[in-house]
Amino acid sequence: MEQSLWESTWNSDMAFGIPELDDEHRSLVARINDLNHAIAMGLEPDKLELLLTQIFEEALVHFTHEESVLAQAKYPLLKGHALLHERLKAELENVARQCHCLEDLNLWAEYGLLVRQLFCDHLLDEVKRYSEFHRV
Ligand SMILES: [Fe+2]
Repeated sequence: MEQSLWESTWNSDMAFGIPELDDEHRSLVARINDLNHAIAMGLEPDKLELLLTQIFEEALVHFTHEESVLAQAKYPLLKGHALLHERLKAELENVARQCHCLEDLNLWAEYGLLVRQLFCDHLLDEVKRYSEFHRV
């Protein structure tokens, strides 16, 4: 994945090869890029909070959908994967709590980059594990 400070660029390392999941991942990466651009542009905190909430809500829908698709594919690491989603959800909830009514744009920048890091690390890790399952 190519990274600039504010943007993650989608590439084939991030592709599961399951189009519906790849579309959702691409959408989440785009939303996270939008949040980081908005922070860099100095948008009002209430608008930033709205973007963060949208990422959180879209991620929750996506996790549930991804787990059902992986269950259908009889993915053997599904239970562990669901636990990773629970952990990621808790981390995103914590970011949302910290950012509630947050005025300091420097802190927003740190949290925006943290959201990107959490999500992209999870995505690259899950694609790697899933492709190993397909190779067996
Ligand atoms: Fe996942």
